[in-house]
Amino acid sequence: MKALILCAGKGTRLRPLTFSNAKQLIPVANKPVILYSIENIRNAGIKEIGIVVNTENKMSFEDKLGDGSEYEVKITYILQEEPKGLAHAVGISRNYLKDDPFMLYLGDNLIFENLKKYTQKFLKDDCSASILLTPVPNPSQFGIAVLNEQGNIVKVVEKPKNPPSNFAIIGVYFFKKEIFEAIDNIKPSWRGEYEITDAIEYLIENEKKVRSHVIYGWWKDMGRPEDLSEANRQILEKMASRKILGNVDDMKNIYGIVEVGENSEIVNSQIRGPVIIGKNTVIKDSYIGPYTSIGNNVFIQASEIENSIVMDNTTIINIEKRIDNSIIGSNAKLVRSDIRPRVLRFVIGDYSSFHYSE
Ligand code: TTP
Repeated sequence: MKALILCAGKGTRLRPLTFSNAKQLIPVANKPVILYSIENIRNAGIKEIGIVVNTENKMSFEDKLGDGSEYEVKITYILQEEPKGLAHAVGISRNYLKDDPFMLYLGDNLIFENLKKYTQKFLKDDCSASILLTPVPNPSQFGIAVLNEQGNIVKVVEKPKNPPSNFAIIGVYFFKKEIFEAIDNIKPSWRGEYEITDAIEYLIENEKKVRSHVIYGWWKDMGRPEDLSEANRQILEKMASRKILGNVDDMKNIYGIVEVGENSEIVNSQIRGPVIIGKNTVIKDSYIGPYTSIGNNVFIQASEIENSIVMDNTTIINIEKRIDNSIIGSNAKLVRSDIRPRVLRFVIGDYSSFHYSE
């Protein structure tokens, strides 16, 4: 059995981060989102993974993941030239998937459920598809499934105004070859995309069995900046033990679960876990508070930061207010200098945001 991970979207809601990095390669707790998916798929017993990429992000994925051997999987890249929808992405992958059953995984999803039992059940079942669902408090914002008494899906609707149930379709699906006939028979939706929900609806209308599994664990799709922050908190919360590989001048200033990577230095600073700090990073005369991930080659001096993500090669110096609930991309510079006149000077990319309160 193979898995297909979709990564060819535009990621507009995560701009500006997605101008320089695919959404699925953004680090959460210092690990690209897609690596959590790859591990999850591998733990389900699937070793062959097709990743659907676009022309802009293809090289970044190839550079980061290569042929997958480092992660004990075999990766094949499939090019979707335009993001014409999830069903379109599956359709163009037909040569790769052939007629075998497969798992479809949306690359911006984070889910920690063990998928092995669902995979095995699906392979033994006579159904055409099986879809993971989860109850949500705000069903109008999701694709929603209606179930019959046997737990089979009898209807799916995209973002309904009057939701017929609260079971949201999360980003993990299982399909057999009938899905390709369904994809061939659907038309683009009002937003111009070939929707996977329409293909599933086609299966149902043609009396194919579509099963469901409701999961109750934590799940999130990384659509918006606040989703990244929440995922960062969730993952750091699960960190089990302290791991200090770099140099810490005074261990009394390290509280709770903290990871410090190789060649990093913590000097005259207080770190309150859960916190993860990458390699070759320097933290000097600063405070790093709970739920913060700091990447590699970062330099932080005379600043306070918590509840945030700071990516590789970034410099933060002398910021007098505590930085909170922020996502700071790679190679960024945040510096306060004491030179007069006291001004704010910006070089901020498109779609960036800066919030300041006295
Ligand atoms: P979305 O989150 O629906 O779309 P997006 O990634 O373009 O983001 P935004 O809405 O902020 O612009 O996509 C869900 C996943 O599916 C994501 O991992 C990207 C992927 N995808 C494709 O691979 N091909 C497509 O045609 C589309 C629409 C999405």
